[in-house]
Amino acid sequence: MDDKVYVMNHPLIQHKLSIMRDKNTSVKDFRDCAHEIGLLLGYEATKDLDLEDYEIETPITKMTAKRTKRQVALVPILRAGLGMVDALMDLIPAAKIGHIGLYRNEETLEPVEYYCKLPNDIKERQVLVLDPMLATGGSATDAITMIKKRGAKRIKFVCIIAAPSGIEALRKAHPDVDIYCGAVDDHLNENGYIVPGLGDAGDRLFGTL
Ligand code: PRP
Ligand code: URA
Repeated sequence: MDDKVYVMNHPLIQHKLSIMRDKNTSVKDFRDCAHEIGLLLGYEATKDLDLEDYEIETPITKMTAKRTKRQVALVPILRAGLGMVDALMDLIPAAKIGHIGLYRNEETLEPVEYYCKLPNDIKERQVLVLDPMLATGGSATDAITMIKKRGAKRIKFVCIIAAPSGIEALRKAHPDVDIYCGAVDDHLNENGYIVPGLGDAGDRLFGTL
């Protein structure tokens, strides 16, 4: 795996991901685990945010403290990316949020765009694109192309499970975009689902099975 792909196989991620993979897990538990894994992935994906100095007083003395600059935009890919956005908002409450609507045509597996609303100042922001699943890579590639068209330069992609083919496609299309994921699974099946995977992330998050 190249050094732009961060596979966070932390024990807590592995534990929570096993719960998400289990087909008997309830919608609530699935959603809770997506949130908790989002927190853990978000911690790593924000490790190089810029800091600025500001003056405060502790109960003991004055000091120059650090705070993160207001710089992040979160862009969940609808629908399933919504399952990670609250976690990232918990970590970065000042982040602006954009939305990109894409779904895969079930026959061709090609992404179909239906919505795009991004913050006006996206070009100045560190953009974190959120989607639990990177399968063929088509949705992530198109979403990032749409974001780049609006001028964004610093983009990371954060997902829960990636397939090797999705990583390869996304790295080829957007070599400047680092990928943060919780696991890299084995392959895609004939319907474009990740194996072993967790099934259809959007359906499992929103109970539309
Ligand atoms: C899923 C998933 C990704 C996409 C990944 O969305 O959330 O967006 O598939 O597949 P790809 O890498 O092959 O493009 P889906 O199309 O099922 O839409 P939904 O989130 O609205 O259910
Ligand atoms: N989208 C999903 O939700 N799951 C997969 O396994 C592949 C694409």
